[in-house]
Amino acid sequence: MGSGQNVAVFGAYGHTGRFVVAELRERGYLPLLLGRDQDKLRALAQTHPELGARQASVDDPASLDRALEGAAAVINCAGPFAATAAPMVEAALRAGIAYVDVAAEIEANLDTFAHFAERANAAGTVVLPAMAFYGGLGDLLVTTAMGDWTAADEAHIAYGLSGWNPTGGTVVSGVVSQQRRGGRRVRYTGGQVEYHDDALPTLQWRFPAPLGSQNVIAEFTMADIVTIASHLAVPEIRTYMTAKAAADLSAPNASAPTAVDERGRSAQTFVVDVLVRSGGTERRLAAAGQDIYAVSAPLAVEAVDRILTPDQVHRRGLRGRDLRRPGFPPCHLLAPLTARPTWHTRLTSDPDRSLSRSGRRYEPDLVGGDHQLGAVAGGEFGKQVADVGPHRGRAEAQVVRGRGRTAATRTRA
Ligand SMILES: NC(=O)c1ccc[n+]([C@@H]2O[C@H](COP(=O)([O-])OP(=O)(O)OC[C@H]3O[C@@H](n4cnc5c(N)ncnc54)[C@H](OP(=O)(O)O)[C@@H]3O)[C@@H](O)[C@H]2O)c1
Repeated sequence: MGSGQNVAVFGAYGHTGRFVVAELRERGYLPLLLGRDQDKLRALAQTHPELGARQASVDDPASLDRALEGAAAVINCAGPFAATAAPMVEAALRAGIAYVDVAAEIEANLDTFAHFAERANAAGTVVLPAMAFYGGLGDLLVTTAMGDWTAADEAHIAYGLSGWNPTGGTVVSGVVSQQRRGGRRVRYTGGQVEYHDDALPTLQWRFPAPLGSQNVIAEFTMADIVTIASHLAVPEIRTYMTAKAAADLSAPNASAPTAVDERGRSAQTFVVDVLVRSGGTERRLAAAGQDIYAVSAPLAVEAVDRILTPDQVHRRGLRGRDLRRPGFPPCHLLAPLTARPTWHTRLTSDPDRSLSRSGRRYEPDLVGGDHQLGAVAGGEFGKQVADVGPHRGRAEAQVVRGRGRTAATRTRA
C-alpha cells in the first residue's frame, strides 16, 4: 500500500491513464497528472483538485525533468510508445526513478529492452515495459505455469476476447507498429523475432468454460513474445486472438469502449489461456476478467508498488527476468487480480480440458492444419494439479504427465 508517495502518470487523461490514476489513488499513492495537452490536463485536474498536474512534452526534455520532480516512479500510459518511451525512460534515468509502461508495441518494447535494460541495471533503477494486459499478463501466466522449469519448448497464449472496442491510442499505435515493420507480419520462432508475409490461419482454440471453443487467428502476435523471451528460454512463442476481436480491431468504423459500470469499465470480457510445453509435459493456466484496458491498471500499479515498497528485496534493477526471483514471484503480481473482487478476475484451470487420449496421439485443445500443436506419442497421461495460486483466489496450473515422466508438483504460498 502506497504511503502518499508521488507516482507520475504520463498520458494521465488518456483512457488507460485514467484507470491507472484511479488505481494509484486506491492504493494510497498520490498520482502526478502528466500530459502534453494543457487543456486536457486542466480538465482532468478539475476532477482531482488535490493532485498535481504538469504539462510535459517528449520533445522537451527539460519539461519532462520538471514533471518528474518529486516523483518516486513514472508510469507511461502515452502511446504510441515509439514516440514516448525512449524520452521518458531517459528522463526517469536522469531522475533516478523507476519507469513502468503499458506499451503493446512489439518494436517499441524490443527497443526498450535493447537500449535501456543494461543502463537501468547499471544505474540501479528499474525499466519495465509492457506491464499491462498485453505483454504483462500473458508473461506472468506463462512464468507461473512454467514454475520450476528453466526452459520450455513452446509457449502458447490465446486471447479469448468477447470483442474489442479499441481506443484511439490503440489504433494509432497499431498503425505506427505496422509502419515500423513495413506492413509485414511478425512472429517469434527459433528463439528470435521473424518478419514474414504469410497469411494468418484461423484455428479453433478450446478456452475454459463458459467460453469454450472459439475461432482464433493464429500468430496474431502480441507483445508477450518480447516480454517472455526477455527472461525465459522458450524458442517458440505463439499468441492467438479470437477472430471476432481481431475483426473488431481492424474494422474501419471501430468504436471506442463505453463504460458500463461505476469504475468506467466496458462490458468486454476476456480469458487469457496459456499453455507451455516441455518435452511431453504440458501445463496450462488461464485468467479471466473484464475490460483489458481497466485490468492493465492493477498490473502496472502492482509492479510500481513492489518496486517502491521498502520491504521488497528487489526494488532495484528489476527487469523482465526478475519476475522469477524470490520476492517478486509472478503469482504475487497476479494476486491483485484475484484478490480484489471488484475486478472480477479469476485464475482458473479446467481439468476437463486436459489432453484427451486417442490411440497413440492425443487431441490437443488447439487444432487446425499445420499449426496443430505437436502430437505426443501415447502412454498413460496422468495429470496432477499443482496449486501455484496466490493466497486468495486460487491459480491452478494443470500439470500433465506424459511418456512416463512425472512433472513435479509444487505449492507456493
Ligand atoms: N499493453 C496493453 O495491454 C495496453 C493496455 C492499455 C493501453 N495500451 C497502450 O497504451 C497507449 C494508450 O492507450 P489508451 O487506451 O490510453 O489510448 P487513448 O485514450 O487514446 O490515450 C492516448 C494517450 O497517449 C497520449 N499521447 C499520444 N501520443 C503522445 C505523445 N507523442 N506525447 C505525449 N502524449 C501522447 C495522448 O495524449 P493526447 O490526447 O494529448 O494525444 C493520450 O493521453 C496505447 O499505445 C495503447 O496501445 C496498452
